[in-house]
Amino acid sequence: MKAALVLLCLALFMAAVYGCNPDGNNKPDCTNSTNVEVRIRNFWDPTHYWWCASLGSQDPEAKICEPPTDDSEETTGFDPTSKSCIPWSQWKYITPCA
Ligand SMILES: *[C@@H]1O[C@H](CO)[C@@H](O)[C@H](O)[C@H]1NC(C)=O
Repeated sequence: MKAALVLLCLALFMAAVYGCNPDGNNKPDCTNSTNVEVRIRNFWDPTHYWWCASLGSQDPEAKICEPPTDDSEETTGFDPTSKSCIPWSQWKYITPCA
């Protein structure tokens, strides 16, 4: 239990230093204008992406990746390279913080 706490603190410390924590969910800070109205990858859930609708201290929204066409039942995955939701047939796993 104590070791877990130490590891968690270390992870948070590393995230603060390096700006990217591969074990976190990559939730962006909406008070930073570079994060507003851009799709940001959720490391824990490729069917969703983070979205800051406006500048402020609110939590970002976890938006679901939309189907490829309006009347499609298909789901898509978030592609961090193109910052868009793409069909799973084209989706590839990319290591967080790569
Ligand atoms: C906002 O985010 C960018 C990119 O991650 C970073 O370079 C910048 O230092 C951040 N600004 C603030 C005020 O945290």
